[in-house]
Amino acid sequence: MHFFEYKNNELHCEGIPIREISEKVGTPFYLYSYHTLVRHFTVFDDAFKGIPHLVCYSAKSNSNLALLRLFVNLGGGVDIVSGGELYRAVHAGADPQKIVFSGVGKREDEIEYALKMGILMFNVESSQELQTINKVAGRIGKKAPIAIRVNPDIDPKTHPYISTGLKQNKFGIDILRAPMAYRLASQLPNLKVMGIDCHIGSQLIEVEPILQALKRLKGLVETLREEGQDIHYLDLGGGLGITYEDEEPPHPVEYASILLEEIRGFDCKLVLEPGRVIVGNAGVLISKVLYTKENEEKRFVIVDAGMNDLVRPSYYGSYHNILPVKEEKREEMIADVVGPICESSDFLAKGRKLPTLQSGELIAVMSAGAYGFSMSTNYNSRTRVAEVLVRDNQMFVIRKREDYEDLVRGEVIPEFLLP
Ligand code: LLP
Repeated sequence: MHFFEYKNNELHCEGIPIREISEKVGTPFYLYSYHTLVRHFTVFDDAFKGIPHLVCYSAKSNSNLALLRLFVNLGGGVDIVSGGELYRAVHAGADPQKIVFSGVGKREDEIEYALKMGILMFNVESSQELQTINKVAGRIGKKAPIAIRVNPDIDPKTHPYISTGLKQNKFGIDILRAPMAYRLASQLPNLKVMGIDCHIGSQLIEVEPILQALKRLKGLVETLREEGQDIHYLDLGGGLGITYEDEEPPHPVEYASILLEEIRGFDCKLVLEPGRVIVGNAGVLISKVLYTKENEEKRFVIVDAGMNDLVRPSYYGSYHNILPVKEEKREEMIADVVGPICESSDFLAKGRKLPTLQSGELIAVMSAGAYGFSMSTNYNSRTRVAEVLVRDNQMFVIRKREDYEDLVRGEVIPEFLLP
């Protein structure tokens, strides 16, 4: 359920026609619906209310400060994977005691920053990382709270690029080696074992793989407890999928009830790290058709947003529905919707059946709230686009469009190259 709907033959975001927003901010831009964001977070959070839990919104899916703040206001924590995301979370007012830090390659400076801020826990992904965190914590006189990210070797049945819980993936510590890692952690003087963690993949459309992972983790926790380890937190990561085309992922309530049944009475606080399911369908990318052209084989619709703005179709072959902002009766056509970037992989849709689109009109690329802006780049020296949040009849620019000065910020021509 979201708030992007046609009214009076025009696509609206909540109470505002998208055309009006584009007249104010220009194209392309990302557009988010406040009420959709609130609803998605609340439904997810409420679904777990039967047990002690903490929803740590996964900042990588969309790390705009306004969105982070919105979830913080709703009581959310943040799942971060870099010093930069920590900076954003803190800047947005997140409670450090609700921040978990994942990622296979944490640097010493990032570890130190997180220790100084006093985060809830590091999700540690290797024995060497345990040693490094111990060393940094000792250096600054702190005790570092840690969980071990376990790789449970489970096939999440999703796209290989976003599957993370198999032995062949770089993530986590093999479940068979995890007890050794916990033993090491408990011997290192500056670490405090807090919990256990896993994240098996993203865009999951079945509960079964994550339920299997949970069962394996529970087995391991029992062994660890027998060895005297304190496991207070069980972090199941994120991963719940959304409908882009015709996928039928479980509703958060169904997802939660299956997991709750397995975890109730286990005496652990459950941590969840959802990203896509909260923001994916709460955001769209608005773009303008620049030109159309055709040859004997193909029809192209050339729009002003490219793979630098939304890389998912090029990178994963992802499907994003495309809607004309103006609703009217028209002939259908089959076309590739492509961007201005100098790469053949620069497309938003391939061989797509669409209403015939015309130069100058606006399109909405749907389900673009997650891994849209956050994966955007300046490739081809294109300025990154604006982001707009709509709440009822009000719009707020929550990130202004970059300008050419932003593009060259920090660059220097060395003296010797100048006359
Ligand atoms: N926790 C950890 C440790 C993660 O690595 C991720 C996502 C999440 C939570 C959030 O997962 P979500 O609930 O959003 O599925 N760029 C790809 C997705 C990459 C996901 C990476 N990790 C895409 O556009 O589909």
